[in-house]
Amino acid sequence: MTQSTYPPRRIKSFARCAGRMTPAQKRAVDEVLPQYLWSKDAVVDKPLVLDIGFGMGHSLAWQAEQYPQFHFLGAEVFMPGAARLATLLQEKKLTNVHIAYGDVVLLLKEQLPVQCLAGVQIFFPDPWPKKRHHKRRLLQGDFLDRLLPHMKAGAFLHFASDWAEYCLAVKAVLASYPMLSFEKPLFGVDALERPKTRYEDRGVVQGHDIVDILVWSKHE
Ligand SMILES: C[S@@+](CC[C@H](N)C(=O)[O-])C[C@H]1O[C@@H](n2cnc3c(N)ncnc32)[C@H](O)[C@@H]1O
Repeated sequence: MTQSTYPPRRIKSFARCAGRMTPAQKRAVDEVLPQYLWSKDAVVDKPLVLDIGFGMGHSLAWQAEQYPQFHFLGAEVFMPGAARLATLLQEKKLTNVHIAYGDVVLLLKEQLPVQCLAGVQIFFPDPWPKKRHHKRRLLQGDFLDRLLPHMKAGAFLHFASDWAEYCLAVKAVLASYPMLSFEKPLFGVDALERPKTRYEDRGVVQGHDIVDILVWSKHE
């Protein structure tokens, strides 16, 4: 594991937490979201997959429906997105998803046991294209230092992006961790099918290539 520490004043990987919400969204925040909120005492009896930055939650709700044998924990800092996912879960009567509303860094620090994850998904994170903003990108060494202790041996990490230069940087940082392998180990968990996401659609419209990167945790 590389050694890096968080800067004293943490740099945020997101630009907005709340947007203007419709009355229906506000109602969902008050009445529906609380039923799905994650707490560290939550009892989970299936392999747990963390989805970081699920946006409006459509792809995560799709996966929860397709994969009832998994339990999903969606982390999202954008309140209208958390409210939307909660509403989708209620409409589809899905019980295999919890929502961690807030910064995933705090979730990892305070609300998630070590060695509990069978998989981690980061689909189309904000690319922060300007060089002076690269430090705000989510997937880099200091974040991996926080995330990896929560992954079980054989857990997958699935990253997808339409931003070529971010993908190159991610590949390089992942390759610098000896405990990660680009080949699935025999005891590794198969990554789940990734549905097309909203941000993927945007990237495709802009003519960007989509890149998926998969690694597995090898540590015992
Ligand atoms: C570009 S969107 C992608 C949404 C979705 N995965 C998709 O592909 O359509 C990135 C999302 O990550 C969320 N996000 C960024 N940093 C985060 C953090 N530190 N904790 C939780 N969510 C975060 C943002 O609020 C945003 O909704």
